[in-house]
Amino acid sequence: MTPRKPMIAGNWKLHNTIAQSKELARAIAAHVGQGLACDVVVAPVATSLSAVREAIDGTAVGLSAQNTYWEDSGAFTGELSPLLLLDAGCGYCIVGHSERRQYFGETDAGVRKKVAALLVHKVVPIVCIGESLEQREAGKTLDVVLGQIEAATDGLDAVALAPLVVAYEPIWAIGTGRTAKAEDAQEVHQAIRERLGELKGQSWATSVRILYGGSVKPSNADELLAEPDVDGALVGGASLSAKDFIPIIDAGVRRAES
Ligand code: 13P
Repeated sequence: MTPRKPMIAGNWKLHNTIAQSKELARAIAAHVGQGLACDVVVAPVATSLSAVREAIDGTAVGLSAQNTYWEDSGAFTGELSPLLLLDAGCGYCIVGHSERRQYFGETDAGVRKKVAALLVHKVVPIVCIGESLEQREAGKTLDVVLGQIEAATDGLDAVALAPLVVAYEPIWAIGTGRTAKAEDAQEVHQAIRERLGELKGQSWATSVRILYGGSVKPSNADELLAEPDVDGALVGGASLSAKDFIPIIDAGVRRAES
């Protein structure tokens, strides 16, 4: 029995109208009901948050945003804040996704500020880290990934960080159909947990959930989730249809029961 409750999270990225979001959320909510042995979270686009909140109301499905700013309010046109995400019903927020780092200039320092701001408002950050293909081929995977998690949690202790979720998403595996081998994912997850133990204390490091993301699908979810330090999945493409996402949730339940 794993000491950590598995989590399966769907990152819908820039997909789905309000009507499509509602339909997908309803199908997932019908499967999850009052709760399963694994946590289930969905991250719709901001314009669908309210509709998805209604669709999952009364069920155990968690609601996540895909990004936030770190200030509560002010002259920051176009931004969202942890305070407003909480107001919209979000219990979670993805931070530092590689697409934000790559296309929107997200930096380690910004990720750190967002993590701290979310924790103040009790919104759980799902912090994404991961190396590029070039970095992997140059043997720099652990340097990059451990540097990113160290920066994201800098100055925050285990008490403040308690609910944090980490998502290891190798950039070369995102949306490419190329998944990290289960043993390669395990090696990185174990190194992340060890570094967090050195930095913040073993007890928290043992409890922190580390999800894997990058071309997770029904056909590879069980294999990845069989690894001791792979506590769940952050799913992109396969989270856009209930037909694919529900079997991945079921793989999370199997991990919890194994
Ligand atoms: P894919 O599952 O489409 O590879 O996306 C992974 C991801 O980026 C989740 O945040």
